[in-house]
Amino acid sequence: MEKKNLKSKYYITTPIYYVNDVPHIGHSYTTIAADTLARYRRFLGDEVFFLTGTDEHGQKIQKTSKEKGLKPKQLADRVVKNFQNLWKKLDITNDFFVRTTDDYHIKCVQKAFEELFNKGDIYKGEYEGWYCIPCESYYSEIEIGKDRLCPACGRKVDKVKEESYFFKLSAYQDRLLEFYEKNPNFVIPNTRFNEIKSFVKSGLKDLSVTRTSFDWGVPVTFDDKHVIYVWFDALLNYVSAIGCNKDNDKFLNIWPADAHFVGKDILRFHAVYWPAFLMALGLELPKHVVAHGWWTVEGKKMSKSLGNVVDPNEMIEKYPKDAYRYFLLRNVPFGLDGDFSEKELIERINSELVNDLGNLVNRSLTMIEKYLNGVTEKPKSIVDNSLEEKAFETFEKVKKSLDIFRFDEALSHIFEYVRYANKYITQKEPWSLKKQNKTPQLNEVLFNLTGAIKFLSGIISAFMPDTADKIWSQLGFEDSIKNYDYRFFLDFGSKEKLKINKQDVIFNRIEEKEEEDSKEEKAKKINIDEFFNVDLRAAKVLDAQSVEKSKKLIKLSIDIGENKPRTLVAGLKEYYKLEELVGKTIIVVANLKPAKLMGIESNGMLLAAKDGKSLGLLTVMEDVKPGAKVG
Ligand code: ME8
Ligand code: MG
Repeated sequence: MEKKNLKSKYYITTPIYYVNDVPHIGHSYTTIAADTLARYRRFLGDEVFFLTGTDEHGQKIQKTSKEKGLKPKQLADRVVKNFQNLWKKLDITNDFFVRTTDDYHIKCVQKAFEELFNKGDIYKGEYEGWYCIPCESYYSEIEIGKDRLCPACGRKVDKVKEESYFFKLSAYQDRLLEFYEKNPNFVIPNTRFNEIKSFVKSGLKDLSVTRTSFDWGVPVTFDDKHVIYVWFDALLNYVSAIGCNKDNDKFLNIWPADAHFVGKDILRFHAVYWPAFLMALGLELPKHVVAHGWWTVEGKKMSKSLGNVVDPNEMIEKYPKDAYRYFLLRNVPFGLDGDFSEKELIERINSELVNDLGNLVNRSLTMIEKYLNGVTEKPKSIVDNSLEEKAFETFEKVKKSLDIFRFDEALSHIFEYVRYANKYITQKEPWSLKKQNKTPQLNEVLFNLTGAIKFLSGIISAFMPDTADKIWSQLGFEDSIKNYDYRFFLDFGSKEKLKINKQDVIFNRIEEKEEEDSKEEKAKKINIDEFFNVDLRAAKVLDAQSVEKSKKLIKLSIDIGENKPRTLVAGLKEYYKLEELVGKTIIVVANLKPAKLMGIESNGMLLAAKDGKSLGLLTVMEDVKPGAKVG
């Protein structure tokens, strides 16, 4: 069948997320980035297909469902709603939602497996590895360590041979390298592409693609004690969702993917295994695999045990959802790791969204209302079209940034324009023009500002769809902003006359104080266990020396009842002479992690009271032995 020539098509995917967990900020990040690109491509006029979904097979899901007393499919049916509801709330515009337990998907996976088996790309062999029987899991040499213990339950693991089907990955090494050579932008960013290339160059082993140790998966049609490896199953979602193969019109119109968005954790699957599977199946390879970095929360890895997993639902209850979308894409260069903190989110809302963008829209519309009864009209001739020219330049820059998936950069160009437009107001002083009755000049300035705001509503619509809609309707448009593509927004005169419809401000300032107060409130009260986590000890100062080149630091040698003295570095130089300290019994936190100060390792922290002017070291009134516990 022949490929139909559509207007530019663009196919975007997110990973399909496992249903053994609830969605968190990391999942929302990938999906928001993909959604933003999808919206932007539609803005350019492309025919977009945007896919997301869930990965519902595999041992982990089987195990989780068992723990919850559910069948795996029941668990999946529950959790999938968390994803689907969140995507709805975040205005995600996916065209389809694929589930790997859906019929069409299972058939597609089975068909691909059969095809590769018949061609000899999949063969039957034996898998040998370290296996923990109670946990039903294989582990690598590294995971089991020298003692060969299961990393999950601690029991001894056995070397086991199991019948398995293998994919001939080794046969694709050269073809992959050749493909990488010819497609220098296949993996973005380039640093990650280099890692992939060296991984492939170091040699590829055939890949075990079936399991017999559990049964929650797609069965091999001709050998049903085997289920297909979850990654073979999962990766095929990108084709199953659009019709699976070359006999299908829809498939032909959409495949290959233009951008697979993934986190760096699963890049290898997408940049090595997936292209090899596709080569074996005789299908075209994707244009780009775009791998972003990893989010931590306030400096720490997100984990259930730390209890610091950020729930996007909570964030968008507390803050406007557009602010959340904006923050994620703006705060981190796409591709690098990022750290989430509400404080920074609030700062961005207050400075860029409220002060810069919100203010521009609000003061412009207020003036149009006040000075022109809410109506702007395209003047016969324009003296200063700098705002329109700058809009065009900005569009070109945004385009360049998004061509290489730099969302952060694109947003910074857009906000440069916002500040430029604010400056335009300050320079033109429409209020003075009004006072001086310079009507044509006033009309032109306010017409230009309307054009600038209209441009902004279009260019931000991919990033902040809600806000774009608000601005759009405040400009007086009654139909959907989606009916227009970029050309309408670049031409300031594309609508000759506008009757604006000013409403509330588009973003409200967030008061940070409340937030801090409640944190302080929390910090005031700790329970007794938390107090006893701090190991306070009496310690005798044996020696005190000045730390060279430091105005503040003194190096103390203290006896804390251990078999040898400890070194402790403290900022006491401005308050005590060295000889005043020697012989004193002070109080120290003994279980503080060591820290290096001016190259000297300090093991502990002494306690002192400070009031801004003076400092008083804590000592004891009676003689106690070094090492005595304080409490
Ligand atoms: O891997 N920071 O699913 P998954 C940034 N089912 N992104 C994060 C993140 C974090 N801390 N945590 C998760 C799977 N992500 C497979 C995928 S695709 C054929 C199969 C995002 O539920 C990021 O996109 O573990 C990462 O790649 C993905 O969630 C992993 O989701
Ligand atoms: Mg994962």
